[in-house]
This record gives sequence, C-alpha cells and structure tokens, in this order.
Amino acid sequence: MHAPVTVREFEAVARDRLPPAHYDYFAGGAGDEITVRANEAAYARLALVPRVLRGAGGPRTGTTLLGSRVATPVLVAPTAFHRLADPEGEKATARAAAAAGTIMIMSMAATVAVEDVAAAAPDATLWFQLYIQPDMAFTEAVVRRAEAAGCAALVVTVDSPVRGRRDRDVRNGFDDLPEGMRCENLRESDSDNDGDGAAGRVRPIVMSPEISWEHVDLLRRMTGLPIVLKGVMHPADARLALEHGVSAVYVSNHGGRQLDTVPAAVELLPEIVAAVGGAVPVLVDGGVRRGTDVVKALALGASAVAVGRPVIWGLAADGERGVRRVLGLLREEVEHVLALCGAASVHDLEPGLVRRC
Ligand code: FNR
Ligand code: LAC
Repeated sequence: MHAPVTVREFEAVARDRLPPAHYDYFAGGAGDEITVRANEAAYARLALVPRVLRGAGGPRTGTTLLGSRVATPVLVAPTAFHRLADPEGEKATARAAAAAGTIMIMSMAATVAVEDVAAAAPDATLWFQLYIQPDMAFTEAVVRRAEAAGCAALVVTVDSPVRGRRDRDVRNGFDDLPEGMRCENLRESDSDNDGDGAAGRVRPIVMSPEISWEHVDLLRRMTGLPIVLKGVMHPADARLALEHGVSAVYVSNHGGRQLDTVPAAVELLPEIVAAVGGAVPVLVDGGVRRGTDVVKALALGASAVAVGRPVIWGLAADGERGVRRVLGLLREEVEHVLALCGAASVHDLEPGLVRRC
C-alpha cells in the first residue's frame, strides 16, 4: 500500500498492525457507539462558506494557549496506554508533539512515567491529565510529580465518575495491560511504601462518583498550575467551571467512550462558547480528522482542538515518525483551508464561515 496521506488512511494501517483487541480498545466506545460515530458525522454535516479577495496573506496557524506557544491549533489529546501502540510509547508521542510545535496532554494512564517522558522530550510542552483520586493525598503526590516534571497545566477530566462500558473490550476480555506495562504515573514512591527500596506498587485508577466541585476547589488551592476542565458538555457546568476559577473549559465527550448518545462534540461547542462568553479559552475534541474540521471548530469559537485516535493511529503505524506525519498533515490541511477561506490566521475566523447543511 502507498504511504498514508490522510488521517483515515493512517487508521487503516494501524488496524492492520495492531492486535485486534488493542485496535478495538483504541477505536471503540461506549454502548452502541452512537456518539463515536456522531463526533465525525457532525463535522461532515457542517459546510464552510468561504470569503474571497481578502488579500489575507499568510495564513498563520500559530497561537498561544495558557501561556504556551503552539505552531498549530491541534493539540494531542490525552490517551492511555501508548506502549500498546509502539514500544517507545508516550516518549515517541512527546517527541513528535515537540517536533510539530504542539502541546502533548499526557494521560494519567500513560505507560511511561511523566518524568521519563519529560526527559525523553525536553523540548516538549506537556500538560498533565488528571483523574482526581478520592485519596487527595495521593492526588497531591501525582500533581507534585507533574509539576516537578515541568508540566505547564493540569487537565482535569470530569466525564468519568465511572468507567464507560465498552462492549468491544468486554467481548475481547481486554481488562488489563500486558505483563511489563503499567500506569507509571500511579506508581507509589518508595517513601509512600515500606521504605525497602523496592519499586513502589502501582495503584489502580479510581473513577469515583463522589468527586465534586469541592475537589476542584481543593485542587486549585493545591497547585498554582492552570486548571483545564475536560469533559464539560452542559452549558450550566461551563458556568460553574468559571465560578470555580478554571483557566480553560474543554468540551469533550471522551471520544464517545463514556456516556453513549451524548451529542457530537462540535454540536455542544456553540452553547458552551456562549456560556463561557470569552472569559477563558474553550478547547474541543472528538471526531477531528481533517483540516476542515479544525477550521470549523475554531470558527465556532474554540481556541484550539485536540486529537485522540489520530495520534494513536500514527503511533501504531510508524512510531514517532507516524505521529509527526499525522500532526504535520493536519497542520498542512489547516493552512490550506485557512487560505481557501480567506483567513489570515486562526484568529481570523468567525461563526458565519460555518453553515449547517
Ligand atoms: C481516551 N481519552 C482519554 N481522556 C482522558 O482524559 N484520559 C485518558 O486516559 C484517556 N484515554 C483515552 C484512551 C483512548 C484509546 C481514547 C481513544 C481516548 C479521551 C481523549 O482524551 C479524547 O477526548 C478523545 O480521544 C477525542 O476523540 P477522538 O479525537 O479520538 O475522536
Ligand atoms: C479510556 C480511559 C483510560 O478512555 O480514559 O480508555
């Protein structure tokens, strides 16, 4: 087969290379996967109505998010278990994100420790994704590790009071990592343990329905890092997020992996943008596969988008090089679409560019 020239072609290569149960873990979602499909389908239902003769020059794809400069408005969404896709795992992803000039939001459920990812990719801008653990002392220990490793923001995922039910994983009996792979960000330091110098035990990630806004307040007092709230779907929650002092709101239905039948992310976006009213940046992920998708989300008010599965497909297809290519392709496509829309930069987009069809 020819080298993949689109994100969707990367998925086909990844599918050929991955064990079927691992492909299903990455590709699948909750329930009937209605939201998984909706995320992509909703972008296809939006049309772009370009402007002409604007002499815009450029276009420039760079922007700044919470003080971090990026060359492209496409971030790496936090996804778990990169070593299932490539032996270098999250180290390869971080190097590729740095090369592409974007931010890698590293998952708490990474198979390489945050310290090792930061050391392997010293130029990378890392944000750390956190599931608040009911044991706040342990949550604090994880936050301190992320801070010490140089992460520039905390992305707190709040759409997972319980884990989504993913029928593909049940069918495949996929419920644990293979021997030798662990969620290294949940490894206890030896001092938490028994002091015998042996590697600490790895705690399971606890998804808890007891987590509330109070925990967000505790976290704000615990750290000076900006807090991005990921998994906001309801405008009322976007308003609460502002009251609780978050630095950015991240619209996401977890790629359709948590509650099935949630609307497509891009359909939720305009209401959240309206609720936030420009007070903080709004990010969005779910179903972004093309430069046209990116430009539609930005026109509807997102400051940036993130991609989850596309990065996994690049990683499984060709390791670090594959992720570079996926991020590079999306950036080239965004540049091209901006030019065709008569936009000088990612800041030169407005909702009138997008029409429902
Ligand atoms: C995820 N996602 C996710 N989110 C999060 O906050 N922490 C995590 O550990 C993970 N893990 C994870 C694993 C896999 C395999 C996938 C596909 C997704 C959700 C992720 O951040 C993002 O919201 C979606 O992936 C966006 O949808 P797309 O781009 O995959 O369509
Ligand atoms: C997932 C979890 C790890 O989506 O967030 O698989």
